[in-house]
Amino acid sequence: MTETIAVAADHGGYDLKTILVPELRALGFDVLDLGTAGPESVDYPDFAAAVAHALLEGKAQRGVLLCGTGIGISIAANRFRHVRCALAHDTTTARLSRQHNDANVLAMGARVVGVEVAKDCLKVFFTTAFEGGRHARRVALMS
Ligand code: RB5
Repeated sequence: MTETIAVAADHGGYDLKTILVPELRALGFDVLDLGTAGPESVDYPDFAAAVAHALLEGKAQRGVLLCGTGIGISIAANRFRHVRCALAHDTTTARLSRQHNDANVLAMGARVVGVEVAKDCLKVFFTTAFEGGRHARRVALMS
């Protein structure tokens, strides 16, 4: 079954979302685009909640969240117990967040990360497996 990735952004992340959605499709994923649908100012907690609810309801298996810095939207996402949202600015963080933390949502800041770095982080995050083992015990301790 093709994995579905829920993607959402506030106005700060909107432009980057339009770039990353086709990248995800090119990687072979289905995309559930939960907005925002334009550059008008919106509130990032609403979009973090939309992705969190999509995961909880089984409409998507993992997610991407984008805002200006990635900070607000990742804080908001991590308020939900089932979300392990990793804020990444580099591919090493994106990779280790999967291998060690089984992160299920990738957050990035469109105003602080270049487009090519964001594309690389996206690819690494969604193609890297969780290592399990001792890391599984630690992830379980968080829930
Ligand atoms: C919106 O101006 C901005 O505050 C938001 O995108 C994000 O950077 C918050 O953390």
